[in-house]
Amino acid sequence: MKNVLRINPIILLALAGLAATGPAQANGSIEDGKTKAIACQVCHGKGGKSGNPLYPVLSGQHSQYIVKQLKAFQAGTRKDPIMNGMAAPLSEQDMEDVAAYFHSTRSEQNGSLDSGVPLENKPQ
Ligand code: HEC
Repeated sequence: MKNVLRINPIILLALAGLAATGPAQANGSIEDGKTKAIACQVCHGKGGKSGNPLYPVLSGQHSQYIVKQLKAFQAGTRKDPIMNGMAAPLSEQDMEDVAAYFHSTRSEQNGSLDSGVPLENKPQ
């Protein structure tokens, strides 16, 4: 019984930590992200609606996932010569903002991922 009492505060702390990192928190600003994401759209397409199979579609992607990938590129645990460089200067707020922006662009055009992509850029 003594042991259980001693362990409990640690378990509580762990649970509190889980709760804090649990559900998606929308911390990013779509407006700020729109400006910060201008350079990204050279490759990822307007609004992140890439029509080039070399560049992943970011439009409508969950912002949490985008932030996670950007952190991995920055840390070098996900390796890509281009993206390691693109993620390097980003602050956590920059990541949240661009993620919020790209997440938001899907609904801009009737929920369709590929509307707005010029026909000649569409993968066959
Ligand atoms: C010069 C082209 C280029 C630019 C500019 C660029 N990216 Fe990328 N991005 C890529 C490529 C190529 C990949 C695929 C990497 C791989 O295969 O792992 C990628 C992958 C990603 C991914 C992972 C997508 C997934 O589905 O896992 C995210 C997120 C991302 N880029 C965000 C950004 C952001 C944010 C910016 C602007 C700060 C940016 N990119 C600028 C080329 C680019």
